[in-house]
Amino acid sequence: MFKNVEGPEAIRFLSTKPTMIITTLHENAKVNAGVFGAYTNLSRQHVGIAVYTESDTNRNILRDKEFTINIPSADLVKKIKILAENLPPGISEVEKAGLTLKDPLTNKVPSIAECAAAVECRLDKVVPVSSHDFFIGEVTGGWIKQDFVTDKGRLDVFKSRVFKDFCYPEPYYVLAGEIIEG
Ligand SMILES: Cc1cc2nc3c(=O)[nH]c(=O)nc-3n(C[C@H](O)[C@H](O)[C@H](O)COP(=O)(O)O)c2cc1C
Repeated sequence: MFKNVEGPEAIRFLSTKPTMIITTLHENAKVNAGVFGAYTNLSRQHVGIAVYTESDTNRNILRDKEFTINIPSADLVKKIKILAENLPPGISEVEKAGLTLKDPLTNKVPSIAECAAAVECRLDKVVPVSSHDFFIGEVTGGWIKQDFVTDKGRLDVFKSRVFKDFCYPEPYYVLAGEIIEG
C-alpha cells in the first residue's frame, strides 16, 4: 500500500505545490502538527518553508533540526482546522484529530498515515525573514500511497485529490482543475 523511498528522490512527491501538514517532535516526544502553505522547491533535494517564529513547529525544527511534510487529500479537509490549532505541547493535534501516526524511515519524526504522501527532511539552513524563519530542508526519504504514484514516481494530483491552493485564513481549498499541455 505504501511505496517507501530512502533518498532525495522523495522530493518528487512535492512536484505539485500542495497544502502541507508539517509534523515535528516536541521536547516531550509528542508529535506536533501544523498546517503550512508558504513552500517552494529549491533544488533536486531541497525545499523551503516559511514558518512563523512563535509557532511550535518553528521551535521544534530549531531544536531537533528535522521535520516531515505530510500531504493531505481532500478527505482530510475537516481535520485541517484541528491541526492548525496552537495546542500546548502536552496535547498532540494529531491525536485530537483522530489521525494515525506512521513510523519514520529516515528521520525521527512520525508522519500521518491518512495522508497521500510524506516527505522527511533534515534542516539545512535557516534564513530569518521578519516574523517568519525560512527553513531550508534537505529531503532524506518519504513514502507515497501506491495508488497515487505516477509512472515517473511523482504524486498524481488528480488521483490523490491533494490541495493545489488555499484562501487562508478562509477555510477554502482548491483542487487541480485541468492540465493544459504547452
Ligand atoms: C491553509 C493554511 C496555511 C498556512 N500556512 C502557513 C505558513 O505558510 N506559515 C506559517 O507560519 N503559518 C501558516 N499557517 C498557520 C499555522 O498553521 C498556525 O500558525 C499553526 O498554529 C501552527 O501550528 P504550530 O503552532 O503547532 O506549529 C497556515 C494555516 C492554514 C490553515
